[in-house]
Amino acid sequence: MRAKARAAQLDVIDMGMGNPDGATPRAVVDKLIEAVQNPRNHRYSMSRGIPRLRDEIVKRYSANYGVTLDPETEAIATIGAKDALAHLLFAVIGPGDVVVSPNPCYPIHHYGVVMAEGQACTLPMADPATFLNNLEDLYRRSQKAPKMILVSFPHNPTTQCVDLDFFKSLVALAAHHGTMIVHDFAYADICFDGYRAPSILQVEGAKDIAVEIYSLSKSFNMAGWRVGFCLGNRRLIAALARIKSYLDYGIFQPIQIASIIALRECEDETHKICATYQNRRDVLIQGLERAGWPIEPPKATMFVWAPIPEQFRAMGSLEFCKLLLQKALVAVSPGIGFGPLGEGYVRFGLIENEHRTRQATKSIQRFLKTGLD
Ligand SMILES: Cc1ncc(COP(=O)(O)O)c(C=O)c1O
Repeated sequence: MRAKARAAQLDVIDMGMGNPDGATPRAVVDKLIEAVQNPRNHRYSMSRGIPRLRDEIVKRYSANYGVTLDPETEAIATIGAKDALAHLLFAVIGPGDVVVSPNPCYPIHHYGVVMAEGQACTLPMADPATFLNNLEDLYRRSQKAPKMILVSFPHNPTTQCVDLDFFKSLVALAAHHGTMIVHDFAYADICFDGYRAPSILQVEGAKDIAVEIYSLSKSFNMAGWRVGFCLGNRRLIAALARIKSYLDYGIFQPIQIASIIALRECEDETHKICATYQNRRDVLIQGLERAGWPIEPPKATMFVWAPIPEQFRAMGSLEFCKLLLQKALVAVSPGIGFGPLGEGYVRFGLIENEHRTRQATKSIQRFLKTGLD
């Protein structure tokens, strides 16, 4: 519908996908240009990532979280978080293995399990405490403990955040039952109002059962470059390294070299990226408030998760999104796309600048006034 509207010369304000619109830091681009000139970087690279890149992510974890990792055995570079998620599931999950994840969730957290022929068990996640309660309940009720728990905080799409105590409880519970944990930390650095998202690896003993997936996509506006990492438990890392060694030759080496610069020199750029999302969040929340659509501001991520206004709730999130596109020319994602418990919500991606975000809220205000006319 968006493509059709645009083809008809209509100016759709697109807040649908979580696709960062900002430029990659200049120093990273410059390093790529330099590295790509060197023919030595044109060969097959290392599937697990070049050592200096793995050293750099390990240094970052030490500096930011006080977490010690061995770059040889506890860190692997991946082709974005998606590669890490999908192939880790292929490597360790098979028929009959239960994987628990929250509902709603980022689609691959569910379909990655389905593709690996595991049994996806989704638990409602109105908030992290409810998820933990549901998990305790699941352990009490089921005869066979889940093989893996797959979580992600700050959470897409709900924007829910956790503190370190949540991870402590999760690790204790999973360790007690012999369950592995995968924590997708894609929004590690996109936090607002002084909130700092904890790493699960900060929990003592987490490495015995857990891995964390970190990505450069959002922290450094590098979504198209496809660089991520899987860190922590060495058995899981070894399994991922094995399957990846059959599938790929690693990320193009100039990209790996440029990624070192991102991790080493671009902290300020990350702060700017974060400030941009926070300002857009404020514009969106204030504009929607004026439009009569009050929403709790998120503490992190590049999204706003909005309950559908009461008068439209019965039509469902998909129909509501279609209507919003038709009548207000604003594209957002229907909550149902993130699982059945996403119904009743829509997700705004903060990927339009402040001016266009304000324009979107004005258009939504006009639409909400006229309603279903
Ligand atoms: C929770 C979550 N994980 C992973 C990804 C994808 O990350 P990457 O670009 O590193 O594959 C996204 C992208 O939107 C995401 O929201």
